[in-house]
Amino acid sequence: MNTLTLRYEVPGDDFTRAGEASSDVKRKLKQLGYNPDAIRKVAIAMYEGEINMVIHAGGGEAVVDVDPKQVQIVLRDHGPGIPDVEKAMQEGWSTAPDNVRNLGFGAGMGLPNMKKYTDELRIDTKVGEGTTLFMKVYA
Ligand SMILES: Nc1ncnc2c1ncn2[C@@H]1O[C@H](COP(=O)(O)OP(=O)(O)OP(=O)(O)O)[C@@H](O)[C@H]1O
Ligand SMILES: [Mg+2]
Repeated sequence: MNTLTLRYEVPGDDFTRAGEASSDVKRKLKQLGYNPDAIRKVAIAMYEGEINMVIHAGGGEAVVDVDPKQVQIVLRDHGPGIPDVEKAMQEGWSTAPDNVRNLGFGAGMGLPNMKKYTDELRIDTKVGEGTTLFMKVYA
């Protein structure tokens, strides 16, 4: 398997389409016969990051590099940024507004789950400029 790069635009205003990019990655990894445990972790972590871009950042872009040893996911947005990353990483911490909570989001579990299901996680964020998440799952 050579390196495969997948790119997606994540729309910021459409909850009905939220999760499409991570579902597509999951489907493609299955087609490649990728390690099932790695597929599950990638699907969970990328879904959470994708939803965060929709809810908190007005959308963004996802770039996924697949090679035999690992899957690298980069999620980049130009949203408000995260003022306190340490706080945002805590279970239960959420700034999701009521209309989003009514849809079932906002438990404050997305970032903790990204940490749990990835082998590497880095968050570059600047208030007023945006956020980039780098995640790696080893096969
Ligand atoms: N891409 C982002 N841009 C700006 N803020 C973000 C971004 N991602 C996360 N945050 C901030 O970090 C907080 C915690 O994120 P996390 O995904 O853990 O919880 P949540 O999205 O609020 O709820 P859940 O993921 O359980 O539905 C968010 O409430 C938000 O304040
Ligand atoms: Mg979230």
